[in-house]
Amino acid sequence: VSKAIPISDEQTTAIISQIDRSIASFIESKEFPKQLHNAIAYSVLNGGKRLRPVLAWYASMACGSSGKDALPAGIAVELIHAFSLVHDDLPALDNDELRRGKPTLHIHTNEPMAILAGDAMLSLAYEAIIDTASADLTQKLLAELALGTRSMIIGQVFDTLGGLPDEITPEMQLRLIHKNKTGALLVASCRMGALCGGASKEQLVLITEFAESIGLQFQIVDDLLDIEGCPTLVGKALGKDAQAGKITYPAVLGVERSREIAQELSAVANRALDGLEKLHSGGAESLRDLLTRLEHRKQ
Ligand code: IPE
Ligand code: IPE
Ligand code: MG
Ligand code: MG
Ligand code: MG
Repeated sequence: VSKAIPISDEQTTAIISQIDRSIASFIESKEFPKQLHNAIAYSVLNGGKRLRPVLAWYASMACGSSGKDALPAGIAVELIHAFSLVHDDLPALDNDELRRGKPTLHIHTNEPMAILAGDAMLSLAYEAIIDTASADLTQKLLAELALGTRSMIIGQVFDTLGGLPDEITPEMQLRLIHKNKTGALLVASCRMGALCGGASKEQLVLITEFAESIGLQFQIVDDLLDIEGCPTLVGKALGKDAQAGKITYPAVLGVERSREIAQELSAVANRALDGLEKLHSGGAESLRDLLTRLEHRKQ
């Protein structure tokens, strides 16, 4: 049984404060009717781990840069993530009333606002990048963000409406759902962070290997938490996946095997970090610490 390690250490907590201040001032700088502004702020700032901008920051560091240069990219992915959660919770999708220990946006406001605030965050994400980076970098970041977003939506379609290829094994079907609905945005976070940090081709390949592993692992742990998590720490209604008959790792492969796969994915991710360490000594340490906390996360 793993100990409850907090998801953020001291360094990460300080970075998250910077991220939150930047998100707040970014949405402050755009014109919105008050109620839309409030709905966006509620969705993107009210709780949450900020994993995606933290990953972008640490991926930049792993490539030998400061991390801070990945802030706009991180904000962009966090906005896409917040949009995906608001829509994921709608009655037409997962029909959830609790997120981050608080009422979901459509409960806090109403369904039209939840749909429209989601739409607004999708669009704002692109502005976050266009506003800041150089032209050459902007083009690369936009391509990563668009691919990550499209993949996330494809994953949500598989998750909610099915349509998976039936000639592949159930385990491959699981991989396909999770890689898309959750992995793709984590891959985008890491790759965008690395690009902001001036990654070489070799570094980008290793960062992608790392991100694909933790992307899959993150959703496996989310599936496990839905079964055996602590409701207060998770901040969501639990047991919903089984109730809705979702195709999850524990549902298809069992809890024990799912835990094993999560561990195996940590080993793969660690090997990618070893490779990054060889290219830039000391740079991947923050990603390594984060990886340990992610495997054992309780929230
Ligand atoms: C929840 O993501 C949805 C999944 C992709 C599993 P997070 O667990 O990162 O949610 P917050 O942002 O911390 O609330
Ligand atoms: C969500 O997967 C993935 C998204 C793209 C939002 P889940 O439906 O399992 O996420 P939670 O458990 O509601 O956070
Ligand atoms: Mg869902
Ligand atoms: Mg959900
Ligand atoms: Mg879930």
